[in-house]
Amino acid sequence: MIDIHSHIIPNIDDGSQDLDQSLEQLKSMEAGGMQEVFLTSHYFRGHYHYSRAEYDAKKDALTQAAREAGIGLKLHSGFEIFIQPGIVEDIREKQLTMGDSTYVLVESELNGLPTDFYDNIYPLLRAGYRPILAHAERYVSIMKKPARARELNDRNIYVQTNAGALVGLYGEKVRQTAWTLIENGWTHFVASDDHVRGDYRVMFEAYQLIAQRIDEHTAKLLCNDFPAMICSGEKIPYSYVLVRRPRKHHRKSWLRRVLG
Ligand SMILES: [Fe+2]
Repeated sequence: MIDIHSHIIPNIDDGSQDLDQSLEQLKSMEAGGMQEVFLTSHYFRGHYHYSRAEYDAKKDALTQAAREAGIGLKLHSGFEIFIQPGIVEDIREKQLTMGDSTYVLVESELNGLPTDFYDNIYPLLRAGYRPILAHAERYVSIMKKPARARELNDRNIYVQTNAGALVGLYGEKVRQTAWTLIENGWTHFVASDDHVRGDYRVMFEAYQLIAQRIDEHTAKLLCNDFPAMICSGEKIPYSYVLVRRPRKHHRKSWLRRVLG
């Protein structure tokens, strides 16, 4: 498994504030079967604003400490970028991508995608980046109308869902929205968004739940196969729909009953 969204680098954002806790979390990730992790610290102009050198120094220190602690996880660089006007300049200058790929993990205002959301994201697409909207199920506008996630896919924007959402950590509405995204094939990744505040096992619980409710194939696709395509730089399909959704039995219409 490959986790594409985590805040495990200490003292860079609202994630881990302590190296020992980061190492403990990395150990539980590895113990549960995680093999690779993207360390996607928040990048938000005016809030979490740093140079690429500062990020690299902190990531290198964590990587070194993990190696000394005997942790075999592969740690990739990454960022969770708050979408703002002109953000494409920061992405280009500081190379705020997922590893060496052209994928970029982005977020926006949870209380509703702002009206200039697409205006600010199109420059990324035009520059050749592949945006992934983090925890789409937590946006009020997507909770109100989950099919908006399909509109994102139609506009070449990938979608990521939080493992915690699938087990109800963010409430019932978010849980339902997250499952709707999965059942319709509107999300491409399930990741932890781990902030080193709680139990990492939620990620593995989510995997098991997807395997039970949908199938093992889909769980693997969202937690391993599509994330692996970020590592290799391959293009992930926007529309895949490999989901076996339970069929609802509708009453036959009068015309069908007449025609048999
Ligand atoms: Fe995050």
